[in-house]
Amino acid sequence: MKNILITGAAGGLGIALVNEYLSRGFRIFAADIVPEEEALSRLPDEKDRLFYLPTDVTDTGAVDALARFVSARTDSLDIIISAAGIIRPESEDLLEDFDIDGSIRLFDVNALGPLRIAKAMIGLLRAGKDKVLVNISSEAGSMTSHADYIMRYDYCMSKAALNIQSVILQRYLKPEGIRVLLINPGWMHTPMGGPDAPVDPADSARGIAELAEELRGNLDRYMYWNYNKTERPW
Ligand SMILES: NC(=O)c1ccc[n+]([C@@H]2O[C@H](COP(=O)([O-])OP(=O)(O)OC[C@H]3O[C@@H](n4cnc5c(N)ncnc54)[C@H](OP(=O)(O)O)[C@@H]3O)[C@@H](O)[C@H]2O)c1
Repeated sequence: MKNILITGAAGGLGIALVNEYLSRGFRIFAADIVPEEEALSRLPDEKDRLFYLPTDVTDTGAVDALARFVSARTDSLDIIISAAGIIRPESEDLLEDFDIDGSIRLFDVNALGPLRIAKAMIGLLRAGKDKVLVNISSEAGSMTSHADYIMRYDYCMSKAALNIQSVILQRYLKPEGIRVLLINPGWMHTPMGGPDAPVDPADSARGIAELAEELRGNLDRYMYWNYNKTERPW
């Protein structure tokens, strides 16, 4: 049975990813900052194939504990998807009133969280067959096509940092056949995206899973994609 780790697994996209990978026959290790009881009430009742550990991706000790939790149950991960993320209300304050200190946690979650996960889990991914690491990015991480997000310094900066981090990681891991992907999941109707968003997170999750399947081992292809399998400009 293949194994996948999903962070942000109790959120809108995360739940959709859990459902998608259950339907694909995977064993799932799910992590999110949401407490266990609440998370399990949102996730499908699949005790044999779904294991949940509350994990704050800004806490290095907690991420290391997650690695031990996974290692106690399997010796390999085929796919890792870092989907945990936060956003703050859009600011109209172009500079003078912008809350810089309030941005630090967002940066820690969105940019450093996926690096903590990659660092702690790399041994398990090396032992897997698929060898795919997906970092959930956003159009907000693009230098050339982020107009709707122009007021969000912190969110855009965190996703751009995630993008360059993933490029560096891909360069490092390419000789081992590990594929790193950045995927913009689209504007989804989730707690983050809000009810007016056009994209169903289930469609996004399916696109992400298909991209991970089609691009695994394909180390020379482009790495920044939209969930609908179009390339996202840097
Ligand atoms: N929704 C969109 O339209 C959209 C568009 C582009 C990109 N994205 C990206 O897609 C990913 C998933 O977004 P979503 O829409 O599913 O958001 P969501 O519904 O808010 O889910 C995100 C999940 O991450 C959790 N989380 C927050 N901080 C965490 C931490 N420190 N450690 C572990 N988990 C943490 C959240 O918990 P809490 O609810 O307790 O905070 C939540 O369960 C994010 O990376 C987001 O930036 C979303």
